[in-house]
Amino acid sequence: MKKILVTRKLLKSNEERILKLWNAKLNLNDEMYSNKKLIDLSIDCEGILSSITDAIDENVINKLSNKVKIISNFAVGFGNIDIDAARKRNIVVTNTPDVLTDATAEIAMLLILGASRRATEGIKKAREKNWKWSADFLIGKQLSGSRLGILGMGRIGRAVAKRARAFGMEIHYHNRKKLSPDLELKATYHQNVRSLFSVSDILSINCPATKQTKDIINKESLEYFPKDAIIVNSARGDMIEDDAMIKALKDKKIYALGLDVYKGEPQINAGYLNLPNVFLLPHLGSATKKTRTDMADLAIDNIKEYFDTGNCKNKVN
Ligand code: DGY
Repeated sequence: MKKILVTRKLLKSNEERILKLWNAKLNLNDEMYSNKKLIDLSIDCEGILSSITDAIDENVINKLSNKVKIISNFAVGFGNIDIDAARKRNIVVTNTPDVLTDATAEIAMLLILGASRRATEGIKKAREKNWKWSADFLIGKQLSGSRLGILGMGRIGRAVAKRARAFGMEIHYHNRKKLSPDLELKATYHQNVRSLFSVSDILSINCPATKQTKDIINKESLEYFPKDAIIVNSARGDMIEDDAMIKALKDKKIYALGLDVYKGEPQINAGYLNLPNVFLLPHLGSATKKTRTDMADLAIDNIKEYFDTGNCKNKVN
């Protein structure tokens, strides 16, 4: 029986399945393993089922035992793994696309709604019982009739577009490539981010974290937005230069911000914490029972497919 290391605790049904398939080292206490512990525990394992909280950089990859043949990440994003270093060591890296599209698009809509309808202020007032209805009490921004810019029109971006259309929003997007009409569904393509940002009453960030997208929202690009724009990020924290964003929020250049993801998670830049126009969630994008079960099942399938065939359709390196 093959041996695998599972770096974080998974839902019970997934762990039961793993135990039927392999001799698995589960993390029953959900301890956050240090790099050294991850390397030591995987020494006799052929596979690692990792999570976004494991920073599997070049240094870690180079110290993994020669036995390790696959790292199956329990996420669609794989910025936590140095996939080039893994390829050099002939270690296959896989991810879990598709299964979390709906759940993540739902969180993007929650961010859009929370930021535009002043949920942070509203929740505080309701909890403190410190409010009185009046015609101009906590007036926010309406979604219907507004323009939604989507940065990254992949599976999740398109799922956000579908939901936003139902809210009566006009969809614009930027992607590396223009989509075919059947995928684009009448959304307006912008060849560059400047053009997209300049029409975005609301911008939803749905692109992967890459060298090209790192800090794509910065001091300069924040100037491209219409006044009072809203920005939400359900992808990865790397895309936003936090200090520039905090200044734009304080200067009221940006009306509101909705974040589910952060640079250096679980840290959150302290500058966001007391701003009333910031709606924050703790990386809940895929956090539904169905989605987390499906993601772990797919991460398991990926290892199984690789062990059975020597290849895997969700290989990313
Ligand atoms: C992903 O799969 O990349 C999600 O962000 C994890 O919750």
